This record gives sequence, C-alpha cells and structure tokens, in this order.
Amino acid sequence: MCGIVGGAGKVDFRSYLIGGLKTLDYRGYDSAGLAYRKDGKVNLFKTVGKVEDLDNITPKFTDATMGIAHTRWATHGEPSDTNAHPHFSMHRKVYLVHNGVVENFRALRTKLKFNGYEFVTQTDTEVIANLLEEQYLLLKDPFKAIEKVITMVEGSFACAIMFSDLPELYFMKRQSPLLIGLGKDGNFMASDAVPMMKLCDKFIEVEEDSYGCITQNTYVLMKNGQEIQPNFVVRKAEECTFDKGDYPHFMLKEIEEGPKVIKRLLDNYYDGTSFTFDPKIIECIKEADDVVFLACGTSYYASLLGVEFMHYLGKRSESYIASEWAYYPNLTAKNPLFILISQSGETADLIACQKYINDNGLPNIAITNTRGSTIYRNATFALLLYAGLEVAVAATKSYNAQVTMLAMLTSACSSTEHGVRNIRKLIEAIEDVINRKDEIHELAKKMTQAKDAFFVGRGYDSLAALECALKLKEISYIHAESYAGGELKHGPIALIEKGTPVIGLVSDSISAAALRNNLEELRSRGADIYVISTESLFDKKDDFYTKDVKPYLAAVVKVVFGQYLSYYVSLEKGLPIDKPRNLAKSVTVQ
Ligand code: F6R
Repeated sequence: MCGIVGGAGKVDFRSYLIGGLKTLDYRGYDSAGLAYRKDGKVNLFKTVGKVEDLDNITPKFTDATMGIAHTRWATHGEPSDTNAHPHFSMHRKVYLVHNGVVENFRALRTKLKFNGYEFVTQTDTEVIANLLEEQYLLLKDPFKAIEKVITMVEGSFACAIMFSDLPELYFMKRQSPLLIGLGKDGNFMASDAVPMMKLCDKFIEVEEDSYGCITQNTYVLMKNGQEIQPNFVVRKAEECTFDKGDYPHFMLKEIEEGPKVIKRLLDNYYDGTSFTFDPKIIECIKEADDVVFLACGTSYYASLLGVEFMHYLGKRSESYIASEWAYYPNLTAKNPLFILISQSGETADLIACQKYINDNGLPNIAITNTRGSTIYRNATFALLLYAGLEVAVAATKSYNAQVTMLAMLTSACSSTEHGVRNIRKLIEAIEDVINRKDEIHELAKKMTQAKDAFFVGRGYDSLAALECALKLKEISYIHAESYAGGELKHGPIALIEKGTPVIGLVSDSISAAALRNNLEELRSRGADIYVISTESLFDKKDDFYTKDVKPYLAAVVKVVFGQYLSYYVSLEKGLPIDKPRNLAKSVTVQ
C-alpha cells in the first residue's frame, strides 16, 4: 500500500524521490506526490494517477537539500489531487507524508476545528499535520511537538515530516514500516530498503513509538524524550533486486524463480546431512499442544498445508484468517504455538494478531520473506524465506517458499531425511512445468472469454485449488472459485452452465477416481473440463500432467500450473498483470 521516500543531503532529489516511488509502486497506489526544500522554501507537487504523472508535473529542479515523496492508496477520502500526500498544516509550517491510519482522527479533527484549524482534505493525515503545527507553535521544539502528537494519535503511522523553518527532516513511527538509510551523500528514509539501495549501505530499523531527525551527516533517534541507540540492519542486494531482466512481467520472472528459491531454502536450512533450524524452534513445535497458523490471502492458503503437515506429526492444528482472529481471538488451547506466515511481514491484520499474542506472553514463529519487517522483529523466532523481493502483486514464488519451509520444518520435527529427497523432486517437477509452459498458454487461450471458472480437487489438491482460484480471479478478473470435489453436489453444481471452465486437479491415487467421477458429472451438465493430472495418473484425454511428487508437495506443483494459467489468461486479455486493479502488494491497513 502507501509508500514513503525521503532524505536530506546532497543528491539529485528529483531522481531519488521519483525513482524511489517507482520502486515502491508495486505495493499499489492511486495518487502520488512530493515536496522538496530548495533555497529555504518548500515546493509541493501532487496528483492523482501514476508516478509518471507526477514526473510530468514536477519541474526539473536541482540543488534541493531535502525532500519527501509518497504513493497513496486511498483509505480516508477518494483518490484526488487534494487528498494525495504530502499534506500540509493550515499555516504551512508542516509538510508530511504518512502511511497508516489515524483511528481517532474524527475526534482530533473536531478538537482542532474548535481551536480554529480549517481542513482542506478528507484525509486522516491532515489531522497529524495540523496537530504537529499546533504543538510546534506551542512548545517551540520539534521533538517535544512530535512526542506530544505521538501520545495523542491512536492508530498506526510512519511519517516523514518537514518543518518549513527547520533544516532537518523529521520522522515518527508506530506499526507502519519505516527504515532510515545512512549514505555518504546524505541520510534517507523509506518504507523499505529498496528505494535507498543505491545511496546507502547501512540501515536503521525505527523502533515503535520512536521519532527523530536526519540531516546530511547526522541522525538522532528519540523515544519518550530520551535519545536511544540505533538498531542497525544489513540488507543484502539479493533481497532488494528490483529488475525484471528480459522478462516482460515480474510475475513471469517470479514464477520461474520458483526452483531457485526452493534450492536457496535448502542451502539456508540444510547442511547436506541435517536441517540447521534453531533447535529451540523445533523444540517449540514439538512441545506445543496446538499449532495455530495465522495468515491472510495466499499465505493463508499456504498455512492450510501447514495444518495438514502438523496433523501428520500427530499435533492438533488449525489455521485462521488473521483479519478474523484479530477481532475474535481464540486462546482455548493449553499450550499453543502460533505460526504467523507473511511474505511482506507488514500485513496489518497479522500485526494486530501478533500484538495480542505477545501481550498474552505466548510464543510465535514468523515465517516471512522480509528481514526486519514488523512481524519478523516482534516474533519469538523468525524464519526467513530468502525468496528475494517479490514485486508482482500476485504472490507466486513466496507461496512455493512458504509451503516448502513448512514441509522442511515438518521433516526436521520428525527427523526424516527423505523429506529432502522429496523436496529435490519437487524442484524437478516445477522445472518441468516451466519447460512446458507453452502448453499451459494454449489452455489459457480457451478460457479468456469465461465469466466464471472453477478449480476442483480432493485432499491436498483441494488446498491447491484455493490458491489457483485466487490467482485467476486477482489477475484475470474472471470470477473463480474452488471446491473440494465431493462438495460440488451439495450446492455449487447449480452454478455450472454450458461452457463453464472447470479445472480438475488430480495428483493423489487415493482420490483420483472419485475426482474424475465428479468431473464427469460436471461435464454432463455442460462444463468444459480440463484435467491436470500427474505422470503416473495420466489418462490420454487429460489436458496437462505434472511430474510425480509426494502428494503433500503436489499442491505446490499444481499451484505453479495455476500461476502460469492465470498469467497467460491475463496476458491474453491484455490486463495489467503485475498491478491488478484495486490490489496492493502489502496490505498495511486493517
Ligand atoms: C495474493 C496475495 C495476497 C497476500 C496477502 C497476505 O496473490 O498476494 O493474498 O498473500 O495479502 O500478504 P502477506 O503474505 O504479505 O502477509
């Protein structure tokens, strides 16, 4: 969702701010803006639309000493030029960009209005700008003003703040991500490391409820009125590479990185003879009476496999959608362990769950792709996925990495070495799908006109079907659902019309015959059936097969098929594959 870029120093601010926003635009946004300070004066440009539109309206300025920029994903107030960030206070003493949501903004606005403040936008952010100005004029000290505002605002915020009469760039942070980057030509700040990668070699994670300021050569970090020490982090280039190479889309590149990502997981967590997970993590899983997974979207679908893996270990286990659990937490298990799965590590609903878990003193393991993210930092134990930056909004390689990580943890808990052999076979099976992607492209061409589509499977395939349907709907805009094969007759079969595409996933010999029967029932009611089986279960009438792997890993191979299918349907329809409408990569508001 929203992205922040800012900095103070001696750099080409125009290209840093606009280039930086471009690296963040994969998160999803509807308007963009920037402000820079030059010759002691603040200049402001903002517009609804794309960063390219902002580029067009921004003059070719040089010699700025600081700047802030933002991509906005509307929450309070429609996408418009006025509601775009940066926002400024009534007397233009404060300019700021903000990620997050001010929950008590109505009450604060009413109070500010009573004190004579007028508002020009519908945003919650303008409240912070006016509050900061009011406190700054009263207290005559930017740190004291920020400290006071932090106590007044309920909700989440990461803000980059320019006071029009001060040479430093200020910030404050709660719950929303913010990193400070230290470079040789200046100091910088951004929602993640990527925009700063070319300018900085060292980063500071900004603590919760802390604030501070940067100049070209200095930085100050504060909390509760006291200076605090920085928590330095290193970001590896591979975690931040923002380049699609020769690929037409990030999504295609990321699907095809699948095998490499799984190999990298093995490199990081297996030394050739045994798994190298922190023994405390394995102990924690073994000792738990109930393993509770929490996640959203694709990560939630990955967690459903985790539940099955825990059942294999003989454990009680269930998974909850984080946005539900956050409001209806359930702590009935005697000795629970929570496993939080999140590609970004910044999903607001999951952060809310983690806060509740931590407030109750319970252990939680974060499985995330983002080192230093909020969920990573606040977990009892964190496991990195090492999948590399995922830019396309639709999650692909991160799903493969999440399920593989869960399979590896399960193998480590049961001390079975054949787990690794199975994962190596998984890599080969994914490579085989990649080599035969043109066949999937041909299948996709038959589905471009569909209004609805259904994925069906049994066992692990029913879990793969959930993720395949999500992929298809989010990037091709075809209404897609998934069902466990046996459920069709209990209602959904009423939806089948002549020509409705139904994709049957058949990977497990236990249920293959039953699923094929279900598909025949649908065919006789007019559905166009596409059967995606495996090498050993292949029937010559099937439309595609994937190489044999253990059924518990077959879901990953079938999902790679689903990723390609969705990609090609979207390609044929000429849709914006990497940035589908209404979606954001990182869902940082609840
Ligand atoms: C779908 C997709 C989303 C995310 C969900 C959770 O392709 O990407 O459903 O999986 O928003 O995001 P993370 O994993 O970052 O918590």
